[in-house]
Amino acid sequence: VKVEFLDYEAMESRGWQLTDDDLFEKAADDELGGETHGYFYVEENETLLEAAEDEGYAWPFACRGGACTNCAVAIVDGEMPSPASHILPKELHDRGIRLSCIAAPTTDARIVYNVKHLPAIRDLLL
Ligand code: FES
Repeated sequence: VKVEFLDYEAMESRGWQLTDDDLFEKAADDELGGETHGYFYVEENETLLEAAEDEGYAWPFACRGGACTNCAVAIVDGEMPSPASHILPKELHDRGIRLSCIAAPTTDARIVYNVKHLPAIRDLLL
């Protein structure tokens, strides 16, 4: 499946919100590119984090086992089911937050990575 990604910090520094309908259009218009905005493909049996690393991207992680939230991403479009066991509170899961080290999209998707800087997750990391 194809994943279009955007870096949370680049988004936040421009005053854009996860809930902006035209978030990815704005990213394309700004020609951010590089590590900030782009796309890649996720193979079967690969996690989203592994797929990003295969492309040479250094996305944040720590435990690689669903126990720390450093690798959190936000699904903006598409489906990304979580395995049964992970540390994310239901409230964040319901807001589309997922852990890239233990899951991958099952449909083409748009995701914001680096959301460990989202206040609700930052609090969780402390
Ligand atoms: Fe720790 Fe993914 S790296 S939850």
